[in-house]
Amino acid sequence: AEATAPYDVVIIGGGPGGYNAAIRAGQLGLKVACVEMRATLGGTCLNVGCMPSKALLHASEMFDAANSEFAKIGIEVQPKLNLGQMHKSKDDSVTALTKGIEFLFKKNKADWIKGRGKIVGKGKVEVTAADGSVQTLDAKNIVIATGSEPTPLPGVAFEDGKVIDSTGALSLPAVPKKLIVIGAGIIGLELGSVWRRLGAEVTVVEFLDRITPGMDTEVATAFQRTLTKQGMSFKLGAKVTGAKSVKDGVELTVEPSAGGAAETLKGDVVLVAIGRRPYTEGLGLESVGVTPDKRGFIDHDHFKVADGVWVIGDVTHGPMLAHKAEEDAVAVIDTIAGKYGHVDYALVPSVVYTFPEVAWVGQTEDQLKAAGVAYKKGKFPFTANSRAKINHETDGFAKVLADAATDKVLGVHIMGPQAGEMIHEAAITMSFGGASEDIARTCHAHPTRSEAVRQAAMDVEGWMMQA
Ligand code: FAD
Ligand code: NAI
Repeated sequence: AEATAPYDVVIIGGGPGGYNAAIRAGQLGLKVACVEMRATLGGTCLNVGCMPSKALLHASEMFDAANSEFAKIGIEVQPKLNLGQMHKSKDDSVTALTKGIEFLFKKNKADWIKGRGKIVGKGKVEVTAADGSVQTLDAKNIVIATGSEPTPLPGVAFEDGKVIDSTGALSLPAVPKKLIVIGAGIIGLELGSVWRRLGAEVTVVEFLDRITPGMDTEVATAFQRTLTKQGMSFKLGAKVTGAKSVKDGVELTVEPSAGGAAETLKGDVVLVAIGRRPYTEGLGLESVGVTPDKRGFIDHDHFKVADGVWVIGDVTHGPMLAHKAEEDAVAVIDTIAGKYGHVDYALVPSVVYTFPEVAWVGQTEDQLKAAGVAYKKGKFPFTANSRAKINHETDGFAKVLADAATDKVLGVHIMGPQAGEMIHEAAITMSFGGASEDIARTCHAHPTRSEAVRQAAMDVEGWMMQA
């Protein structure tokens, strides 16, 4: 074969980490290839994660509104579910998005090498295509962006259409009568919401005595109350220890986490959503002297794993979020290109795309208390926000936490419709090191839900709230 110049960067994995790195490298004029074994680019997020789940959340939210909200405001309809069309509309959007990434690769001169990549030594990536053919790429730098996969639950083996992971839950061909979700985390609550809205009876079994660990406890408590009101049931402090496939469903053995008598729960479909784990299968890490940590994550020092080997995204530490992978991606390529690459992990926002949404950035009250930080707290309920009232969407509140001495914003937490859109004024304020008073003194348009964030900041300052 004709000798070609080595790539400046070969990225393994074409998800939000890998594809953003490839595009950034192309933009900086680096010779770059991205190895992806899936038939389409975009990784978990575009193919079986963020995007299809948000498509179903949007569609099912509209269906739910048509069923239960429209009549209240004087619109009488009798909605009928066409699940096939709902899936098709989701699949069409996903295809358009993955094609969009392919287009951006071409535009930025990033090569997509189709196949499974394996590191076979310093600067060498062997790629095996679907047809079995093998090629070896020479790389000055290798970026590992292989992402994550669902964590299986011992004793509860996956079974097509019956015991499923998030990917299965994105394409169920029929609405289950009774869906049992194991794990009250983000996937369990988002996808549980989808199927509840479409008609399933949903029970969520959670090991801890609370839902959504990581979310501010006050918010999580309110969130659970709202989800319960919507018809979702929770079995907290409970662990699933076994599953038995029966003719018309699955029988789960459930025990109190603290020990005690077991009981049986039966559902026609069980969704296992107990977390995701880093994916490094067959990656050849040993060829460059890299060993993942006990939980399978690859450690790094400013993205560097070994000489000429870098890591980003879900396969390394930090929140397993698409936008975090994207931040890593730009920072690693900038670092490789000799520029300044930096990610502020303290300011990665989190959003749960249920109804209402929950969004936050910075620290929770639990974290501030644990760290012994003196803080002030301001809160404003959506029941007192005019836009929320007009729209009959008054569940939830905004909460601002600020340093007691300096007034610097330390965390902002919102539960309410479109909280995911509203959180960014908090993120920007915090990235400028802003104070709660800065939000409180900034003119906000009326009537908007964002006024609730301002009111919460005013509450921190002890100013009178708007009636
Ligand atoms: P991935 O997206 O997992 O991409 C890794 C890619 O590498 C994969 O395409 C894989 O095929 C490929 N690969 C792995 N090994 C090899 C190899 N050896 N050779 C070639 N290719 C390989 N995050 C959000 O921020 N917002 C959301 O709303 C959201 N919703 C989600 C909903 C669901 C149901 C799930 C499962 C996840 C969701 N996430 C969400 C998380 C998000 O998808 C991940 O954080 C993100 O995809 C991580 O990006 P990544 O590039 O690190 O890895
Ligand atoms: P998660 O970590 O959010 O939640 C898992 C839940 O399962 C936890 O509450 C945990 O206590 C519980 N659990 C663990 N073992 C259990 C057991 N044996 N029995 C019962 N409960 C058990 O993980 P999840 O929901 O699977 O999501 C994985 C990742 O995907 C998340 O970390 C998140 O970063 C990402 N994601 C992000 C989304 C978003 O940003 N909106 C949407 C969906 C996923």
